[in-house]
Formats: sequence, C-alpha cells, structure tokens
Amino acid sequence: MKEFKLRVFRYDPEKDAQQHYETYTVPYREGMTVLEALLWVFENLDGSLAFRYSCREAICGSCAMYVSGSYRLACRVQVKDALEGDTVTVSPLPHMRVIKDLVVDQTKLWENYARVKPWLINDEPPPERERRQSPADRAKYNKEIDCILCGSCFSSCPSGANNDEYLGPHALNWANRFFVDTRDTADRERLEIVASEYGVFRCHTIFNCVEACPKHLNPTEAIQNLKKAAMAYKLGLRK
Ligand code: SF4
Ligand code: FES
Repeated sequence: MKEFKLRVFRYDPEKDAQQHYETYTVPYREGMTVLEALLWVFENLDGSLAFRYSCREAICGSCAMYVSGSYRLACRVQVKDALEGDTVTVSPLPHMRVIKDLVVDQTKLWENYARVKPWLINDEPPPERERRQSPADRAKYNKEIDCILCGSCFSSCPSGANNDEYLGPHALNWANRFFVDTRDTADRERLEIVASEYGVFRCHTIFNCVEACPKHLNPTEAIQNLKKAAMAYKLGLRK
C-alpha cells in the first residue's frame, strides 16, 4: 500500500453551516498510526484541522476518538488495523458536543470525575512514615488505577448519553479505586455519592464501557462492586 484515504469529521461552528467529512489522500508508511496520519494532514494539507494529543504513547488519554467504528486511541491504533477497504474514518467521541473537528467538550467528563472525590481520604492522624499497604491489598485496585481518563467509556454509555448528570463509568471506576483502598476511610462518604440518584443504579449493565475501553479495563465490574455495597448501605446492612 503506497497511500490510503483518511476520511475526517470536520466542523467549525464559526464557519460551517453543517458537520461534514473531508477525505485526504495520505502516503502510507509501515507502522503508521492514525495520529501520525492526522499530523501528516495537518502539516501538509490543512493546518486548520483540530485534534487533541499529547503523550503519543497511550498514557495521557487525550487522543481518544472514534476510528472506523470503534473507540480507539489515535496514537496507538495503526492505520493498517483501521482500514475499511482503502479508507480510515475518524470522528470525534460520540455524544459529546463538538468544539471543533475532533475536539469535544470534556466539561462534564471532568466535573463528574471530581464529584466522586478521586483522591485518598484519611482523617486519622498521619503515621510517622507512609500509610503502609500489603501487596495483596494494593492488588485490589490494579485494574482501576490503569485508567487514563480518555473518556471513551463516558462517551459510549447509553445511560449517560441522555443524562450527563449520571456520574459515568470513568468516575465510578475511580470511586471504586478509592473505595477498595484499605488506606481510605471515606467509604460512607463515597457510598452517599455513588448510591445517589445519578450514581450506580443508573447503570444497566450494558457493557459498552468494557468494549470501548482502549486500556481493556472493566468499569462495569467496578460499578457492580459499588452497586453491591450501595445496596447494602441503602438497606441499612452496612454503616
Ligand atoms: S475506564 Fe477505560 S475508557 Fe474509561 S476513561 Fe478509563 S481508560 Fe478511558
Ligand atoms: S496522545 Fe496520549 S494517549 Fe494518545
């Protein structure tokens, strides 16, 4: 393959009457990623193309996009794996307001994340040295802690698509990360949040978040763990 077509969602609310796609012919290089293809277009054909990226190594989460029908990190997915015929189609994360081209408004993503208090809470007097934790207890949140907050699960969740007050899989994943942490003492505070009207009981176990997650995490499992605890809390079976 010498070249391929990159079909890119375009929309500049200040100029465009309608959202549309533009197709560019891009020279192919073995191992080329979709992010590299977007950068080639930006540098050689159209410097007005807007998209987010930073680390280029699947760590920062900023390049999450909808690539040929799947949630992907543009810096990780190779062109050869995203081809449909001779074309790769790139769209912004669905169900999020488009600011420009592939850049979406992440306000609600971050607001909901902050609502679960995603930090260690421990009001007991600090020990002389660090708060210690056994390897077995540390392993309890091995999966959750790999979340890079790319927003793919938030974008893919039908419960959130019609109601962005729903905390969303990304926030609940982080709520569970601290809920199972043996050093954290805010179980009750977090259960109040996740058992609220916009918390875990809005999850209908559809598993879109599991399918969408480019880090192969399981936010549904994290939500089920919180749901069990929230149910016991609501029934007065735990304090
Ligand atoms: S759980 Fe996965 S899809 Fe959701 S924000 Fe974290 S890394 Fe992205
Ligand atoms: S650029 Fe950081 S995850 Fe892709």
